[in-house]
Amino acid sequence: MHERESWGSNFGFLMAAIGSAVGLGNVWGFPYKMGIGGGFAFLITYLLLVLFCGCVVMFVEMTIGRKTGKSPIRAFLEIGTFKKLGWFGAICGFLILAFYSWIGGCCIKYLFTYISELCGGAGFGGMSGLDYFVQFGSNPASGIFYLGLFMLLTLLVVQGGISKGIEKFNVVGMPALLVLMVILIIKNLSLPGASAGLAFMFTWPTEGFNFFNTLRMAGGQMLFSLSLGMGCMLTYGSYLSKKESIPKNAFIIPFADTLMALLAGLMVIPAVFAFGLDPQGGPLLLFYTMKEVFAAMGSAGAIFGIMFFLLLIVAALTSAMSLLEVVTSCAIDVRAGKGKSANRRPIACCCALAIFILGIPVAIDGAGISGLMPQFTFLADGSESWLDLYDTIAEGLLMPLGSVLMCLVVSRKLGFDWVNEEVTACGQKWLAEGFYRVSIKYITPVLMSFVLVSLFLSYFGI
Ligand code: PHE
Repeated sequence: MHERESWGSNFGFLMAAIGSAVGLGNVWGFPYKMGIGGGFAFLITYLLLVLFCGCVVMFVEMTIGRKTGKSPIRAFLEIGTFKKLGWFGAICGFLILAFYSWIGGCCIKYLFTYISELCGGAGFGGMSGLDYFVQFGSNPASGIFYLGLFMLLTLLVVQGGISKGIEKFNVVGMPALLVLMVILIIKNLSLPGASAGLAFMFTWPTEGFNFFNTLRMAGGQMLFSLSLGMGCMLTYGSYLSKKESIPKNAFIIPFADTLMALLAGLMVIPAVFAFGLDPQGGPLLLFYTMKEVFAAMGSAGAIFGIMFFLLLIVAALTSAMSLLEVVTSCAIDVRAGKGKSANRRPIACCCALAIFILGIPVAIDGAGISGLMPQFTFLADGSESWLDLYDTIAEGLLMPLGSVLMCLVVSRKLGFDWVNEEVTACGQKWLAEGFYRVSIKYITPVLMSFVLVSLFLSYFGI
């Protein structure tokens, strides 16, 4: 019989949950979405959404998870409303990890390239960041190789089990990434022309601002970055000890994640302007830009490049592990529920293999660069690649929908007494109770519904 493990300590839980939240979404996703989504307008919308939706959905997921002690699939079956909601999580996990692993693979590729630069090898071969990526993106074999490599790394860590595998990884990598990013920010802000980037980030846009577009991008990015709406935090909550405070954790995690996203914005956007790149450059913005940043550092650049991509890979792995964990724990609970053997290792391997296969079109497509795959022109504002397709289905559709439905499950079906009982199980009062009640009932579902409506509007070009 499969037994549920639990976290070694609240610190371990926090580090793992922050580890899940902080990843490529912050460092790769946030700056480029801010670039497309309207700079300051995006930032303000994002921050409001973190407060009124992020913290709230985090709270809801953790409460459902801890109270039921189950994976998303079994939790919603047990609750008996929106019984299939758990499957959203599994589908989302599959889709996200498929493209996430390719981006993670790009980071590994860059790491190897910087190592080769340092050792006097071919390195970037004198190419610009843009040209180098075009070359990489047009090589499907290389894309598939690095996708597989990242997936394999993820699998290796997940095989260690919950507390052993995940906790250890986070404690060192995350603070180190933070310190490195601060150093890079200081460096980038001193570049000539960087102030235009600051103006883009912190002054109200005058042209090209589209409310629905900004809302859609910020809403999706917020859920993606906080790992919400697909049962990830629900799964983590199911391993959380009853002694710990849910409202406290549901505030600390979004706070830390948003801090990292802001730092990533400050690291990338001013540099984009300083090097005359296009802030609307799309999903590969991080790669083009950081290449120029490190090149401008002279001989120290390769060392910084190695450190940066190494730590980014660690951050990406801790997120990828949580994605694989959702998928795996769903599969385990389904099998255990049917009375079949539920051995973690083979199940995790099968899931990883399926995700790898799903990621192959993304790798061949190379974010639309290779021209080898059909594109999806029906997606909004220039998002056309396979990566965009998976991303739009997951963070544009399934995650906001999952968030709305989870809030409805709590406010309509389970009720606030049910929540209160779980939240006060730690012996403390329910902190900010009024805020959570009003948000769960009204504010969050309404705002998230707007995010969904924005997706449909942008589909019709509005
Ligand atoms: N939040 C992660 C990141 O920012 C990605 C993620 C999404 C992880 C959903 C788990 C679940 O990189």
